[in-house]
Amino acid sequence: MSDVIEKRHLASRHTWRVPAGRNLDYEIHIAEPLLDPGNPSLFETGRPGARRLVVFDGGLPGFVRDRIERYFLHYRVVAEFLTLPGGEPSKSFGTLQRLLADFDSFRLNRRTEPVIIVGGGAVLDVAGFAASVYRRGIPFVRVPTTLLSYVDASVGVKNGINVGHRKNLVGSFAPPLAVFLDTFFLASLDFAEIASGLGEILKLALGCDAPLLDMLEASEPAFRARHFADPAVRAILHRAIDLMLRELSGNLYEEDLCRVVDLGHTFSQVFEFAERGPGLRHGEAVAIDLNLTAIIAKHRGLLSETEAARLARLTTFLGLPMHIPHPDPDRLWESVVERTAHRGGQQRFPIPVRLGECTFINDLRHDEVARALREFQLCSSTAGAMPACATTIALPAEGLI
Ligand SMILES: NC(=O)c1ccc[n+]([C@@H]2O[C@H](COP(=O)([O-])OP(=O)(O)OC[C@H]3O[C@@H](n4cnc5c(N)ncnc54)[C@H](O)[C@@H]3O)[C@@H](O)[C@H]2O)c1
Repeated sequence: MSDVIEKRHLASRHTWRVPAGRNLDYEIHIAEPLLDPGNPSLFETGRPGARRLVVFDGGLPGFVRDRIERYFLHYRVVAEFLTLPGGEPSKSFGTLQRLLADFDSFRLNRRTEPVIIVGGGAVLDVAGFAASVYRRGIPFVRVPTTLLSYVDASVGVKNGINVGHRKNLVGSFAPPLAVFLDTFFLASLDFAEIASGLGEILKLALGCDAPLLDMLEASEPAFRARHFADPAVRAILHRAIDLMLRELSGNLYEEDLCRVVDLGHTFSQVFEFAERGPGLRHGEAVAIDLNLTAIIAKHRGLLSETEAARLARLTTFLGLPMHIPHPDPDRLWESVVERTAHRGGQQRFPIPVRLGECTFINDLRHDEVARALREFQLCSSTAGAMPACATTIALPAEGLI
């Protein structure tokens, strides 16, 4: 009450100004080996002796669940598991409702029993959202288990679900109590999932860190071999998180809608939700968006032909697809319109101005999107892969392999 500042004292007009700030700082820890009973980090994020509800990604191998169970038993904490399938279909109102019902029947203590969310970006997003609205917000901990969620989806404050084909239309800004990173979880990923994570790292490299492109080029074999202890791989993961946090912090709640991290996220939702058949993975869709954007940048004279070709070569080299299942310029444009609404009524279209730097434009046109799509398709259909298309893209002499 004492904090409430009364600003005016007229009988007919009165204003109470209420300081509404809270300390919502959170920490992201590399805490390996996280599930070693000798490492109390996860247990200590909550009250001793209490129970834990673990929201668990069903794509993870069963032994991970056993390890978590044993870890908590060591501390005399009973862990109850709630398993959700990974992937976009889980980011739905149905899953949200189920989670809320399960939180309720578990009778979660609002203060002492943080929900432990162990999974890829989809499970982190939906379960984080459920935690952020249950009883108007309960604490939750994120343990990312995919490369993409390790470097991206776990480190910010966003949670959400999709509505129809619109990504994250409903969600919340709610920081986790803590994030625990351990590459142990990544060992069971298919390479396609690893490549998807590399797609988001590629975005950071193109948007704000050219040296990261060289690092990615040099380390692809180590990623392919899942050598996450390799110092070069570690350096990339660390750098990606540093860059992500540099871009996010100070703008966590998106007061500024010009966001470098939105690079590759204008057309991508179209590819994630194909009209027919399965859509692409998130990072795959982002990588195709980056390449379309690079073609647009090239035609505007912002990026050289050599730079656009290097991006395309690297995309393929990293195991990312360079193929759009059902190309339709009108759907791409609908996505631009939707993103424009999301970005406060201006396109704020992030576009590279050279490798490692990005600006924002508000005059993107339908015809240049359609042209970029045609060029992209021509290259991928004539040669099977973008970099081999010499008709529109001059290949640099130096190879990657
Ligand atoms: N909140 C944010 O700031 C943010 C940022 C970027 C992306 N995202 C979201 O993240 C989602 C993509 O995340 P993703 O790439 O992790 O995909 P995902 O969560 O769909 O996981 C991909 C697949 O891997 C499985 N899986 C998870 N961990 C595994 C493991 N260790 N071993 C084997 N299989 C495993 C999952 O079950 C799923 O089938 C998208 O919905 C995207 O919108 C959110």
